[in-house]
Amino acid sequence: LFASIGSASVRRISDNAPVKRLCVVGAGQMGVGIALVAARAAQLDVQLVDRSPQQLERGLAFLDRLLAKDVAKGKCSEAERRDSTARITTATDITQIATPDFVVEAVPEDPQLKRRLFAELSEQLPPETILATNTSSISITSIAAAARHPPAVIGMHFMNPVPVMRLVEVIPGLQTSEHTLATTQALAQRMGKTTTLSQDVPGFIANRLLMPYINEAVGVLQEGIASREDIDTTMKLGTNMPMGPLTLADFIGLDTCLAIMRVLHEELGDSKYRPAVLLRKYVDAGWLGVKSGKGFFDYP
Ligand code: CAA
Repeated sequence: LFASIGSASVRRISDNAPVKRLCVVGAGQMGVGIALVAARAAQLDVQLVDRSPQQLERGLAFLDRLLAKDVAKGKCSEAERRDSTARITTATDITQIATPDFVVEAVPEDPQLKRRLFAELSEQLPPETILATNTSSISITSIAAAARHPPAVIGMHFMNPVPVMRLVEVIPGLQTSEHTLATTQALAQRMGKTTTLSQDVPGFIANRLLMPYINEAVGVLQEGIASREDIDTTMKLGTNMPMGPLTLADFIGLDTCLAIMRVLHEELGDSKYRPAVLLRKYVDAGWLGVKSGKGFFDYP
């Protein structure tokens, strides 16, 4: 598909068959954010699927809180809130999926889990259904190879928090068709996002740049060069980052940061991507950041 990344980046975006029904698999933070933006900004009917009913319940409660906050701030009317909520239905099994035009997978970053899911989804859905993965580090080409119709598989990498961040990285695998790419870019734009195009390489664009930066911040802490507060304050006030690197790592999840650094290190083979020892120790201790109540900072 990509003879040259230069020509790919100026590819014309067409939307000749707009997506109407979206299915989001995985009701974690990313999946819920994607479902909300799809229902609200793109006015799509969305089916949110998760095998855990408790996770679905938590996801819908989170979604309600986000919408209620926007109503309270005057950013959304009661009618819009009701409309968005009504557009989102749920299911606990992918066999209950109601023939969507487009599926976005947002399950945990486990290559086996993703490949199995893509194999199952492509077995039961028509070949033209586009299957996008929100993976941040797994090869799109390898996920596509597990599906029955690899040309319909693509990477669609949203950033956290999805409702706030304006970017979606789009990553075609080796097998992805032009039609799949154009439809994905058009969908992301309807969701109010700007897209960038990356080749299917470890970390794509965002994490190839972001994770070594975070890892280096952990290295600076580990070497005793500065306190955690001074590292974050330097980058926040000195370079206008919305969060310092250690706070951002806590927000992303230290296990996720470590997993992405490991992929960069193993697959690119350069020692400059070696995960910081302190990052590994924190993960070993179960200090994973905001989600566990403790990371580089405390979250009581
Ligand atoms: N979901 C939805 N909305 C959220 C949110 C969430 N989890 N967290 C915050 N927001 C909203 C708030 O409600 C608020 O909205 P309003 O302006 O409408 O009130 C807005 O974001 C700003 O929030 P706050 O005022 O509470 O706090 P803030 O100004 O510090 O902003 C932030 C919070 C948007 C998260 C900001 O700190 C930021 O941009 N941080 C960097 C985030 C980032 O880099 N994300 C990328 C991570 S990497 C990734 O996702 C890829 C990967 O593969 C690992």
